[in-house]
This record gives sequence, C-alpha cells and structure tokens, in this order.
Amino acid sequence: MDIQIKTEYWGSHEARQAFKTFILGIHGLDFTEWEARGFWDHAYTPFSYFKGGEVIASVCIYLLDAIIAGNKTKLVQISGVGTHKSWRRKGLSRELTDLGLEWARDKHSGVFLFADEEAIPYYERCGFTSINETLEYYHIEPVSAKQGLLQLNPTNQEILDRIYNYANLRTPISDKFCVFSSKLLMFHALYTMREKMHEIPDLDCLVFFDRKREVVNIYDILGRTIPSFDEIYPYLSADTDRRIHFHFHTDKLGIKGIRTKTTTGNNTFVKGSFPVLEPSFPFTSRA
Ligand SMILES: CC(C)(COP(=O)(O)OP(=O)(O)OC[C@H]1O[C@@H](n2cnc3c(N)ncnc32)[C@H](O)[C@@H]1OP(=O)(O)O)[C@@H](O)C(=O)NCCC(=O)NCCS
Repeated sequence: MDIQIKTEYWGSHEARQAFKTFILGIHGLDFTEWEARGFWDHAYTPFSYFKGGEVIASVCIYLLDAIIAGNKTKLVQISGVGTHKSWRRKGLSRELTDLGLEWARDKHSGVFLFADEEAIPYYERCGFTSINETLEYYHIEPVSAKQGLLQLNPTNQEILDRIYNYANLRTPISDKFCVFSSKLLMFHALYTMREKMHEIPDLDCLVFFDRKREVVNIYDILGRTIPSFDEIYPYLSADTDRRIHFHFHTDKLGIKGIRTKTTTGNNTFVKGSFPVLEPSFPFTSRA
C-alpha cells in the first residue's frame, strides 16, 4: 500500500490543509476560523495516514493540563478520529491510536475521549471502556436581578483577545477535577459557545451559560479567582429559573445543597484505569 504515517506536521502548511480538509469531510467541522484567529494548538498532535497529499485516516492526541485532587497533571484526550470510507476496517485507526498512545506514554496520568454514538463498537473493540460522569445541579429560586452582565460578541478580534486573556489568567475551575486549555477554550468561544459568553466586570469574570426554559446551563466560569455562586447568580437571574446544571465540578463555588446525579450522556470512554471515579469533565475541555 502506497501510504505513509506522518505526525507532528503542523509546521507544514500543505499537510495542515490536508488535515483540515479531512476533518471537514469526516466530521463536518471547519477549523479555518480557529486557525485564522490564531488559536490553533500545537499540543493537539496528529497521527495520520497520508496517501499522496491526502489524509486517509487520522487520530489526534491532545495533551491537556488537568487538576486531580489539587495536583497538577496532564491527561490525554483522543480526538479528531476518522478513517476515509474506502479505507475502513483495515486496522488503520487502531494502529494510529496505538502509535499516538505510545508517543504519549509517560507524559500523562490518564486517557479519555467522547465517542460519537456510531463509533462506540469500534472503541469497545479497541479496548476502551465506558465510564459514568457526574452532573452537579441545584434547585434555585430566582433572586432580584443585578445589572452588569455583558454579552460578548466573538466576531470582534478585540473581544476574542479579551476572552483569551481571561483564559490564560484563569484559575482552574475545580480543585477536585478539571481539564483545561486556553486554546481549546478559544475553539469553544468560536464554535460551541458563541452566544453564551458573558462578562461580569464587577466580579472580573466570564460566565458561559444558556437557558433552556427553567434550566440554566453553566458551562464555564473564568476568572483569576472564582467568585461564589451567590455573588454570580444575581447577574444571571431570570424569573423562569428553577434549576442550574453545572458542566464542571462546583467545589470552588461555595454552594450549599448541591445535588449530583450519574450520567452517561457524553459517551465518555477511557483506556486502562482512569484516576477519577465518575468525574465531571468541564464542557470546555471537550475536543
Ligand atoms: C470509527 C472509525 C474511525 C474506525 O476506523 P477504522 O480504520 O475502520 O478502524 P480499524 O480498522 O482500526 O478497526 C479496529 C477494530 O474495530 C473494529 N471496527 C471498526 N469499525 C467498527 C464498527 N463500526 N463497528 C464494529 N467494529 C468496528 C474493526 O473491525 C477492528 O476490529 P478487529 O480487528 O479487532 O476485528 C471509522 O469507522 C470512522 O471514521 N467513522 C466515522 C467517524 C467517527 O465516527 N469517528 C469517531 C468519532 S468519536
């Protein structure tokens, strides 16, 4: 077979373009804006099979900062996984994954990924196991609203730079468990969180949230220190609010009466043992 493996090739414009074309074809995801705005992350390491100038199978190994029980460490997230239709079931994806994990050996304390529904049998076949996550939530009574919440518009480079600055200076959202990366956060700023980003200048923090009927989803809070939830909530409060879902661990928010439930909805998989039982992966750590 006239195919060759390449890795760590972000320095090559052509190879990077081939990767972007491949990801657009497989996942419908266009990385152009993330790249053009200057947030492409070299820690997102590709292991790809090329045929000529074209990527036919690829796996990315994303080494991310993490906090586990107060200690700084690294975790690997496997992402950007795909094999071109005509090259499937030949062992390419498993081979690239094994190669990537071998490269990352000794650099991390655990491996995780979020599987698309249709890829679950593949991951199971390759020795990954499903784990539960925890969802933390809270029943809320609306309070009298405070003025001073600003919605941020991510089409403006100045605003993006302000968000990036917050991301670089932030304190991790949890001491119990979290995964974080400022460049991955900017991916979310540009793709998944576009309408959800707000600044509270009084508290010197950003809050990423949305509201679906009576449920407020809070996806992330970025600040040099994390204000208590009692300080934050008046800026968000609406009469319809009945429940808050937190998409991260809330140990720094000082909430009394937080509830937890087990969830499998993210199709979270790990390889080998994972250092935390039923973690809550921050939404903005998903690649
Ligand atoms: C999932 C995907 C990456 C697998 O790629 P691949 O190169 O065909 O996988 P491999 O050939 O390395 O397969 C490894 C093992 O998994 C099995 N396998 C692969 N796809 C499978 C499937 N859909 N169902 C069941 N088993 C599967 C293979 O048969 C092989 O098993 P065996 O050798 O032990 O018998 C590919 O089907 C794909 O690109 N799907 C669309 C994108 C996608 O879902 N990506 C993952 C997003 S999280």
